[in-house]
Amino acid sequence: MDLPVIDLSPYLELSVNSSGSPANVENQLDPQMKDLCSEVSRILRETGALLVKDPRCSTADNDRFLDMMEKYFEKPNEFKLLQERPHLHYQVGVTPEGLEVPRSLVDEEMQQQLKAMPEEHQPATPAGPDPKWRFMWRVGPRPSSTCFKELNSDPVIPEGFPEWKETMDSWGCKMISAVEAVAEMAAIGFELPRDAFTSLMYQGPHLLAPTGSDLRRYGQEGNVFAGYHYDLNFLTIHGKSRFPGLNIWLRNGQKVEVKVPVGCLLIQTGKQLEWLTAGDCLAGMHEVVVSNRTIEAITLAQQQNRSLWRVSSTLFAQIASDAVLKPLGRFADSSIAGKYPPICAGEFVEKELAVINLKGKKEEH
Ligand SMILES: [Fe+2]
Repeated sequence: MDLPVIDLSPYLELSVNSSGSPANVENQLDPQMKDLCSEVSRILRETGALLVKDPRCSTADNDRFLDMMEKYFEKPNEFKLLQERPHLHYQVGVTPEGLEVPRSLVDEEMQQQLKAMPEEHQPATPAGPDPKWRFMWRVGPRPSSTCFKELNSDPVIPEGFPEWKETMDSWGCKMISAVEAVAEMAAIGFELPRDAFTSLMYQGPHLLAPTGSDLRRYGQEGNVFAGYHYDLNFLTIHGKSRFPGLNIWLRNGQKVEVKVPVGCLLIQTGKQLEWLTAGDCLAGMHEVVVSNRTIEAITLAQQQNRSLWRVSSTLFAQIASDAVLKPLGRFADSSIAGKYPPICAGEFVEKELAVINLKGKKEEH
């Protein structure tokens, strides 16, 4: 099954023509545009994922970013560990491989759900923590005063990469713009005000968080780079990776291998969106596993003498730390709204990070 691709261009043109005023855009929505927005929210609800085309995010931009990150991940471990910031919960700088624990290994409720799945849709069983590196880079402005300072700390720049800041910031900002457009369209589709989500994203701790997986060491079929999990943020966006391997689970439980067409971006629903819609749109479950298609891409890369690091250009778009997560608008009346009590987004993130092992155990007590 191939996921449909939504072209954001008509919506973006509408925003430009209405001088960015939310009220103007809402008034100008013709039935066709409203249908497109409904389509966005429907796909997010049913699949937890959405493929989009955004003319502002080019293949050349994605390539420039992937080239730089391949060069970085190929550096020796001693070099990369200079960018490690454990005392900041790894929310900036590098996270070494073997640290992030897939939720399915520690969450008993999730383990029960997995056992109940038909075999062909069950996720791969990780042997332990994820064997992937990750680099966290903050994108966009942060609030001048916040109750969650530690999540909003200074960026880390590796030595010998003069292009680092510009490459990270420009690709990060472009992907955030794409997320914002989707967030507006989804809000309209969910019958919420157009800025229902984007107003909460304002000055959020958005993170560009590319992962690096060493296919030379771990490129055997069936190896799990990211065990079955959901993302704790609002929406996640990725540029196309040079090596396939992402599987997602549709709401109906079906497992689907994602094929991102050239020039497209992939968006996934996170737990904060689930909270804001009282579970009308669930956080999308996913995993990254070496498949036969990954092996084909590895063989081709070897023939062409290209890097064998699988880089994902992942950006976690977040709700602002000081904003309150709670079911919005009509979702507040949902029969299961009580499952999603009001909580500061920053506190929610800290709790989730503690579960997946990224927050120092000592600080919890
Ligand atoms: Fe993820």
